[in-house]
This record gives sequence, C-alpha cells and structure tokens, in this order.
Amino acid sequence: MAINIDDAGLQALFPEIAEISDDTLRRGVLAIWKEIGAECAWDKFEDVPKNIGSEHGRRLVDHIRGVTVMALSLAETARKLHGTPYNRDHLLAACLLHDVSKPVETEPDPGKKPPNDKVLAARKSALGANIQHAAYATHKIFAHELPLDVAHLVLTHTHASNLRSNTIEASYLFFADYADSDAGVEPTGDVKFAHRIRFVE
Ligand SMILES: [Fe+2]
Repeated sequence: MAINIDDAGLQALFPEIAEISDDTLRRGVLAIWKEIGAECAWDKFEDVPKNIGSEHGRRLVDHIRGVTVMALSLAETARKLHGTPYNRDHLLAACLLHDVSKPVETEPDPGKKPPNDKVLAARKSALGANIQHAAYATHKIFAHELPLDVAHLVLTHTHASNLRSNTIEASYLFFADYADSDAGVEPTGDVKFAHRIRFVE
C-alpha cells in the first residue's frame, strides 16, 4: 500500500507549506512528502501515529503542525522582542520535514488493535529498525538538492543524532519539538521529555 496525495492534499494537511516563500524549497518539501507517501506502507498520512511509545494515540500530522506553528511563534517572539534574526524559509522547511521519514520508519501493525479512532497501531519497519531516525529524511533533502542548512536542521533535531547544531533555527525546532511532544504526553500521564532531558557538555 501507499499514499497517493497531491499538492492540494498536502497543503490541506500542512497549511504552513504555503508560507515558504522560495518556490524551489516549497516544491521540494511537497515532492519529498509525495515520495514518502509512495514509499510507505500506510493508506493515508492521518493514520500514522506520532510514535510507538506514549504518543501512539496521536497523529503524526498534528505533531508536525504543532512543531511548525510553535517554532514560528518562538522565532517571531525573539525577532519582535529581541531583534533576533532567523531564516524563516529554512525554519519552515525544517519543521515540516523533521519527521517526514516517520511514515517509512514505521508500518501498520495489523495484529494490534488501534489505540483509538484517530490513528492505527504501528510497529517499526525494517528501515526504522536499522536506520537512525531522521537519516532518511536527510537523504531525501540531499536527493532533492535542497539547502545544506535544511538538511543540517533535520539531521540534528533528534537526540538520536551525534551531531548538535549551534544555529538559532535549530534551537526553535528543537524546543518546539519537545514542547509539542510534551503536550502530547500530558494527557497520558507519562513522564515528559523536559523531565528526562539531560544535557552533557
Ligand atoms: Fe518531532
């Protein structure tokens, strides 16, 4: 199975795609999502859970929107109040692509009951079990010849990466990702990411 979705369908899922001002970058983001749709084992992106842990009952697409909108508000707040500049197109593209590989890192688990009527049960795919999270998303960004900065932001957004970023866009993406994840963990009563994070110098 695969997901057959067009640009209008993706824009409906992720309205912030339209805010990317650079045509090549915006088209690249759309093309990567369409390719992932064609490669994955899901029927629609809405069925894919955010993860197979405590957020297995929420939709990945809602998380990606949450991260994008939260990161933009962090960036805009710092710009307005402190005059901190940032690259809006790169931040938008990186937020929208940071978890684009999750639909191929997982697959539907037909043996398991769906946790609710929002998403299906998932398990790790062979790719997800063998390749570090976000590596495949980064590969797609290179394959589409999108900016190195966007690849860097996507690769470094996760603690699965050995490499950290020192850019302001990475900061907004990183903290928005954890804040939106904790908003998803909150109703489950599980331990939040902010409680678990340990920074080692
Ligand atoms: Fe994420």
